[in-house]
Amino acid sequence: MGSVTSSLIYLLATLSLAHADASYGPHPQPEPRSIRRAQDGKGPLGGRAVANVVNASGEGGEGKVLWYPLKQEALNETVVRRRRRLVKEVVSEGSLGKRQSRWTWKHMDDFRGYLYTMEVEVGDPPQAVRLTPDTGSWETWVNPKCESAASVPLCEMNGFYQPANSKLATTNNEPFAFGYGSGFATGMYYVDRIYFRDEDVGITQKFGVALDSGYAVSGILGLGYGSAYNINYNNIVDSLVSHSIINGPIYSVALAPIGAGTSEIVFGGVNLARYSGYLKPVPVWPPVDEQPENWVHFWVNLTSVTITAPSGKLLPIYAAGRNTKPINALVDTGVTYSYLPPAVVDALAVAFGAYREVNEWKVDCAVRDMAGTVNFGFGDDLVVHVPYSDFFLWLQDNTCTLGAQKREEEDDSMLGDTFLRGAYVVYDQMTNNLWMADYKDCGSQVAEVGRTPGDPGKCQGLDDAA
Ligand SMILES: *[C@@H]1O[C@H](CO)[C@@H](O)[C@H](O)[C@H]1NC(C)=O
Ligand SMILES: *[C@@H]1O[C@H](CO)[C@@H](O)[C@H](O)[C@H]1NC(C)=O
Ligand SMILES: *[C@@H]1O[C@H](CO)[C@@H](O)[C@H](O)[C@H]1NC(C)=O
Repeated sequence: MGSVTSSLIYLLATLSLAHADASYGPHPQPEPRSIRRAQDGKGPLGGRAVANVVNASGEGGEGKVLWYPLKQEALNETVVRRRRRLVKEVVSEGSLGKRQSRWTWKHMDDFRGYLYTMEVEVGDPPQAVRLTPDTGSWETWVNPKCESAASVPLCEMNGFYQPANSKLATTNNEPFAFGYGSGFATGMYYVDRIYFRDEDVGITQKFGVALDSGYAVSGILGLGYGSAYNINYNNIVDSLVSHSIINGPIYSVALAPIGAGTSEIVFGGVNLARYSGYLKPVPVWPPVDEQPENWVHFWVNLTSVTITAPSGKLLPIYAAGRNTKPINALVDTGVTYSYLPPAVVDALAVAFGAYREVNEWKVDCAVRDMAGTVNFGFGDDLVVHVPYSDFFLWLQDNTCTLGAQKREEEDDSMLGDTFLRGAYVVYDQMTNNLWMADYKDCGSQVAEVGRTPGDPGKCQGLDDAA
């Protein structure tokens, strides 16, 4: 393994020098949108059914769904995890004086909160690794460098994949550099089997094996738009579809309250018993065809922010209107906080008596025990209510922070885990909507979706009493 590693490092060094420019992007230069997703819900490359397509349903589920539990882990270190920032940088002045720019992620430190991971097995024989499901990126990679992780012990608990120990591992020595500005994760692409939940549900998948990374405490399972828009190979979601494990590129995310319940992702379906009321569609905006090429994300318009005080009184914080634009925000499982415009965070800070300490807005921890909610509105008839106890983060040093911190730039708003714990979200690439409702845990009733385009599935909510 030693000599393999050093020749890989050597290769990587030479290749990344040769392609220094290409390494800035989130992925090596893909072919621009040459592959379009077929509209029948199958992967763009057609279905290559695995020998063993099984009934992978969760409790009470049926058909082609893959129910997946997530583990919630507290990040106990003082400075934890990356914070990503989407920036447009000017690359050069074009011949007509027109500025050429590209999008890239910059990472920052100063991250805390709770991490959600899912266990998959890679290779033959299978090796277990825990990955962070990330709806804000689209490629998968394993093996963060634990020495430079935000939390060394947590990183070490998340497993390590040795390609040399897998009979099926192959590589073309194609390097990757997920460009979070200063080189957040770099390494080599491999192809190997990835198994979900058990050895019956496996896909042959291309993914990155990191040789170096900073801040990450686990590998990343990229759940964003894949080969139809952003990359020239099938990502995990595309592969689940093309291997006929799920019917279409749809999955649902339920992040359970801090310290309670089961967090889950249902690939290819929804869990009817994890939300209250009806799921309502929130269109991805800008439309996917109008987003920057190869940089297509789950952005939506956030149109209001309010607070329901413990007394039941509704306090307005922000409302889009005649003179105020909606806040375009990324709905992203991969960030622990939410990031909103300064004016919104200032108004929340006033409402909660928050104070600023080392770039963070802190609050009195007593507020976490109160019965209020912070509410996020999308369009005319959808409001997601996040309980105070899930919005405010309790940190190891016995201080608490506001769940929304100030975004650093325009175009950089994010609804992260401090929003998602109050929501049930169906990420639907077939209709390009996020279907949302309030999170509510009343059991488990998994239903398959995504046989036909435009099918939001059986998304009607159960009675709250159910
Ligand atoms: C899948 O398994 C569940 C639970 O065992 C069962 O009720 C259901 O009928 C099965 N579905 C299919 C398509 O085999
Ligand atoms: C973090 O702290 C919590 C509460 O003290 C504890 O339950 C948990 O095991 C710790 N996690 C790690 C990774 O140390
Ligand atoms: C999102 O907001 C923009 C204004 O910033 C508006 O033009 C657009 O229609 C909105 N999209 C949706 C789906 O509401």
